[in-house]
Amino acid sequence: MISFTPTTIVALLCIGSQALAQQCSGNGSICPGGKDGVSPTYLQCNSWSHQYQSANCPTGQVCYANPRMPGFAMCGLPGTGGSGTCTGNTAKCSSPSGQGSAYLQCNQWSSQYQTVQCPAGLKCFNNASNTGVFCN
Ligand SMILES: *[C@@H]1O[C@H](CO)[C@@H](O)[C@H](O)[C@H]1NC(C)=O
Ligand SMILES: *[C@@H]1O[C@H](CO)[C@@H](O)[C@H](O)[C@H]1NC(C)=O
Repeated sequence: MISFTPTTIVALLCIGSQALAQQCSGNGSICPGGKDGVSPTYLQCNSWSHQYQSANCPTGQVCYANPRMPGFAMCGLPGTGGSGTCTGNTAKCSSPSGQGSAYLQCNQWSSQYQTVQCPAGLKCFNNASNTGVFCN
């Protein structure tokens, strides 16, 4: 059994608070706990203090690691897998073509992808120009 003297406890508390105030550099950002698609906040590195600061995603959006910019977080609608902004009536399968039933459909109002499922029993295929999908 390990007994903690008051000094050990103080030392442990210091380590604990340092872990919370995680050091960072530059202006990178991460999702709390490194978890995608759950947090309405993200952690933005303050390049002056080298500490992360919590910031809010726009209402209704959650934090994702930005797949196109490693080291940066982004906000997106829940269920979008961090696919970023989109334009027009574009869509893409969530899995390789023909292997899954989910696809990401651009929501033209929010310019964010939303996850949609093919009808039961059908798989998603990317179309010939890779800008749309069909279920088959
Ligand atoms: C901050 O991040 C942007 C990308 O969002 C990057 O282009 C820029 O160079 C960065 N600036 C610094 C000082 O790191
Ligand atoms: C693929 O789907 C998109 C969106 O529906 C459509 O605009 C495009 O013309 C389609 N491409 C082909 C080759 O069918």
